[in-house]
Amino acid sequence: MKHTSLFLLCSLVLLCCGCHKSNPIVIIPNPVECTPKAGHFTLNQETFLCFENVEGEDSHLMRTIRNLYQESFNITPNLGDGSSRRSNRILLEINKKWDDKLGNEGYTLTVRRRSVTARANTAQGLFYAFQTLRQMRIPDLLAESKSITLPCARITDYPRFAYRGAHLDVSRHFFDTAFVKEYIDLMAAYKLNKFHWHLTDDHGWRIQIDQFPALTSVGAWRPERKTWDTLHPVQPDEAMTYGGFFTKEQVRDIIQYAAERHIDIIPEIEIPGHCSAILAAYPQFACDDYPYTVAVGPYWPPKAIMCAGNDEVLEFYKKVLNEVAELFPYPYIHIGGDEAFNDNWQVCPKCQQRIADKHLDGEMALQQWLMDQIDQHLKQIGKKAIIWDDIVSDDMVNKSTIMCWQGPEAAKTAAKHGNDIILCPTSHCYFNFYQEDPSKEPLAMTGLITLEKAYTFDPLPEGLDKEQQKHILGGQCNLWTEFINTPEQAEYMLLPRLCALSECVWTPTDRKEWRNFSARTEYHRQMLKKLGLNCR
Ligand code: ACM
Ligand code: ZN
Repeated sequence: MKHTSLFLLCSLVLLCCGCHKSNPIVIIPNPVECTPKAGHFTLNQETFLCFENVEGEDSHLMRTIRNLYQESFNITPNLGDGSSRRSNRILLEINKKWDDKLGNEGYTLTVRRRSVTARANTAQGLFYAFQTLRQMRIPDLLAESKSITLPCARITDYPRFAYRGAHLDVSRHFFDTAFVKEYIDLMAAYKLNKFHWHLTDDHGWRIQIDQFPALTSVGAWRPERKTWDTLHPVQPDEAMTYGGFFTKEQVRDIIQYAAERHIDIIPEIEIPGHCSAILAAYPQFACDDYPYTVAVGPYWPPKAIMCAGNDEVLEFYKKVLNEVAELFPYPYIHIGGDEAFNDNWQVCPKCQQRIADKHLDGEMALQQWLMDQIDQHLKQIGKKAIIWDDIVSDDMVNKSTIMCWQGPEAAKTAAKHGNDIILCPTSHCYFNFYQEDPSKEPLAMTGLITLEKAYTFDPLPEGLDKEQQKHILGGQCNLWTEFINTPEQAEYMLLPRLCALSECVWTPTDRKEWRNFSARTEYHRQMLKKLGLNCR
């Protein structure tokens, strides 16, 4: 056994990006260019951490890096003036002159025996340079070396896609602020920059909305069931003990936390389906008088849908979105649009009246009309909509950004229509699916995405011309939480597949190679476990 491990470790060392035997470079995502050099830099108590041109609105970077430095190296940094020292210093400098190649997020990092220098056009670029530097310490950390050594190298790095995301469903199971921050930290470590926060669904409404307090006093709570598979309706005498939601204060705190890590948040408010939690709180927004409850456990298809013929429903959404827009300082709000089963619309007099009044061609067109109304409202308040690909059709006129979960066909259609696109296909990006043989894994959603399969994800669908390719903003992984009810289980499903996703959205395809990635991931797996994370 011992011999096998030794052999494995030797093979890993030889496979990694830098082949300096004792101190391999195991960065994930793999940088665009990385030239290993002989020797290493030793970081110690006397090392100075210096910043140049990091001023004004970028100055939060200094605090973030100081904290990361302390956390990563267990040393309180000596802060110094960059110009006053030549050796034993780490210099982080914002370029005075913009370097086109590096763009908004790229950086260069040079580790020499006597000093380390990172340069970027922006604070975000320097933040990523520092994330890379932290990762250069992993082999040393795993070897439990007493000194902190960083292998000498020259790195030039920038992302392949501007949108590099990870999604978290906090409705099916509730995950609190502490876990959301942990998730954001993991995203930042792997240079992801968009956190898609799935805040509303059948199983719970998770964000405070002042004008509709019952969304959280009623819609955030349900009975607690031991396993997700228990399928029986909520009983009137059951205690609503499971749930939770984020107050606006907590949301602001998370926004600030994410911003310091250069992550934008995309809040999702599901329209018009996946709304049992809304209808439990405000039954007047349904087409019928069915006694809706916050959903528990699995059921399919979901019956709940908001009445698209009721003007009050439109007003409700506009008021909710106004509050959401006021909280989140980003351009995008995700407005759902997936799996809207419209059986109720087919028999609802109000919905049918709307179809007649607006001369719509059936219920799918009614959904298009509703999404367009919301889209236009978002435009009026200075925001842009993201919508799941269920609304894509050959004759669509909507110009929202489309999030493609069903496969590349919808992406191609949307790209031809000139819509921007984010890819997260079930085939590669659903990290709630099993990652190995289901008979040997904890219960998960049907479907299998091994690490190797996740690594084959390419956000760019085949068959698009140059102009259409410009509409592919990037990709993300999705963590739906029907079968994930603890932070430990969420970590298990996410790690190490998050490493694969990060490389798929950051690294140029000619710098991607499975065996090499797998070897680097082995180091990350061990490091994540050492940090106490439940990495598979
Ligand atoms: C989805 O998985 N329904 C977007
Ligand atoms: Zn209706």
